[in-house]
Amino acid sequence: MKFLVTGGAGFIGSNYLHYVVNKYKEDYFVCLDALTYAGNYNNIKELETKENYKFVKGDIRDSLFIDKLFSEENFDIVINFAAESHVDNSIKNPNLFAETNILGTMNLLNASKKYNIKRYHQVSTDEVYGDLPLDRKDLLFTENTPLHTSSPYSASKASADLEVLAYARTYKLPVTISRCSNNYGPYQFPEKLIPVVISKALNNENIPVYGKGENVRDWIHVHDHNVGVDLIVRNGRPGEVYNLGGHSERTNLEVVKTILKHMGKSEDLITFVEDRPGHDLRYAINSTKVEKELNWNRTYNFDDGIKETVNWYLSNESWINNILSGDYKNAYKEELITNK
Ligand SMILES: NC(=O)c1ccc[n+]([C@@H]2O[C@H](COP(=O)([O-])OP(=O)(O)OC[C@H]3O[C@@H](n4cnc5c(N)ncnc54)[C@H](O)[C@@H]3O)[C@@H](O)[C@H]2O)c1
Repeated sequence: MKFLVTGGAGFIGSNYLHYVVNKYKEDYFVCLDALTYAGNYNNIKELETKENYKFVKGDIRDSLFIDKLFSEENFDIVINFAAESHVDNSIKNPNLFAETNILGTMNLLNASKKYNIKRYHQVSTDEVYGDLPLDRKDLLFTENTPLHTSSPYSASKASADLEVLAYARTYKLPVTISRCSNNYGPYQFPEKLIPVVISKALNNENIPVYGKGENVRDWIHVHDHNVGVDLIVRNGRPGEVYNLGGHSERTNLEVVKTILKHMGKSEDLITFVEDRPGHDLRYAINSTKVEKELNWNRTYNFDDGIKETVNWYLSNESWINNILSGDYKNAYKEELITNK
């Protein structure tokens, strides 16, 4: 089968490609990425030599380009990881989030419909459910929790989800959606909490923590997320939404302190800064549906996973430094890519 994987130069998409390109030699994977500031070609460079993989630079907001790509490539499966993904940026530039996350998704849906794609999968987020109170540990998001968004980011992701479900109902497009909690692992751009803490701590810089650091996230290792996406794409029921969660709720402050401890750095680096506007309090996921239906489960517990992740960043300091210096923007050289 031929797969289109959008956003494959980003954090989760690149981890997904490393997993599936090596696992499924009989399938062929086309990675489509616009290489925005968050797209890092270094994340997927070593896949260039694989026979069942190629990279295409392009923008999901460009409907003519998307239509042409679909007409030429004959994809069987589309998996949409591409998105503007940082809540803070969505507060500064909400329109960009609507263009990429909603209209970009609709371009992919239209092409999937026109070219009879066998499965369209939307990679979504638990943020579409809004937040939960800090003092009600009994409450978790299920697939039936109403959408109730807080930020322009989560509103754009929820809008995209609604379009995906509308195409399923109206046009009988075979779709699935996964809604996952906060990911951690290798190749995460140093704008998100965990790589920010590691890169600042490496340079003994102050580590900004929003508010009192009491917001709770349900952390999942990116590999467990991607195993879930793969199972849903191959075996999930069309028209269904599946939650994926880490069962590892931690406050932001706990996460920061754990990382500093592993790095042997002082907690004095922690600096509390003004809270993010509209900051969601707590996310927590019930993933019973995917566990029962598709036999999915986590292989990482947070304590081991975060230790492994810190070690990955420490052994790949040049990967972070390349981003901090801006050099990562030169990693993609169009003329060197051979078309397979
Ligand atoms: N990071 C998380 O914790 C998390 C949790 C749940 C769901 N998600 C979702 O998973 C997906 C991937 O998240 P991530 O953390 O890897 O994001 P990321 O920001 O690291 O990567 C996004 C990728 O999409 C590409 N992209 C952006 N706009 C594009 C466009 N117009 N056309 C083509 N490519 C474009 C970027 O270049 C980048 O490579 C997103 O849809 C996000 O909403 C993320």
